[in-house]
Amino acid sequence: MSQQLLTPVRIGRYIAPNRLVMAPMTRSRADGDGVPSDLTVAYYAQRASAGLIISEGVFPSAMGKGYVHTPGIETEAQVAAWKKVTEAVHARGGRIFMQLMHCGRVSHPSLLDGATPVAPSTIKPEGQTWTPAGQVDFVTPRELSLAEIADVIEDYRQATRAAPSTRASTAWSCMRPPATCPSSSSRRAATSGKTCTAARSKAAPALCWTRWMRWPQRPVPTASASRFRRR
Ligand SMILES: Cc1cc2nc3c(=O)[nH]c(=O)nc-3n(C[C@H](O)[C@H](O)[C@H](O)COP(=O)(O)O)c2cc1C
Repeated sequence: MSQQLLTPVRIGRYIAPNRLVMAPMTRSRADGDGVPSDLTVAYYAQRASAGLIISEGVFPSAMGKGYVHTPGIETEAQVAAWKKVTEAVHARGGRIFMQLMHCGRVSHPSLLDGATPVAPSTIKPEGQTWTPAGQVDFVTPRELSLAEIADVIEDYRQATRAAPSTRASTAWSCMRPPATCPSSSSRRAATSGKTCTAARSKAAPALCWTRWMRWPQRPVPTASASRFRRR
């Protein structure tokens, strides 16, 4: 039994040297802006000998935060900090997958700049969550509209693109103008006049949100939000 535990196993396109998988565990070591700290880097690096690490739950957008000092993967500072984590784990020969976790109603306004937590329906959960002021009761959430649900799906997509990858940092290149870029964030930025993430990523390719691995094999991803609305 122990011999098998320590033998390699294929997980998708990865080969783990052993079958020990670290479960996702919220550590609450990020700063108030959801940026992982140096302690986070040390924590995961120390565990790089696991066959696979699943990160703590990470909110894809600020409204998905549900516990004090949890990290996100939305802002540039958050992405840059996660890159330090993945680099430290990879440097020690480890593998780490990020758990994206939108906490929905399992949250509190004090974690959301005063906003009411969102959920599929207005049912208050039993229990409490941790806030800067300690443990407090959950509140009745606000029901998401269908369009907002599509936005949450889009948040997950963006977070997936933002998740740092050493392959993205070494192999990414994109010559498309932002308006035709497969990254919808780049297209949105281009049409709203903001800095295009694709253009910005030329200076810092590791932060690129374009799914370079899937382009040009896959069509431009525009459909899921509108598909959802048609249902
Ligand atoms: C402190 C703590 C934090 C946790 N955070 C997460 C989390 O962020 N995401 C998640 O899916 N599960 C989380 N869990 C659940 C664990 O990943 C695990 O599923 C749970 O502890 C049951 O595993 P066990 O049966 O081996 O004890 C957490 C558990 C603990 C004790």
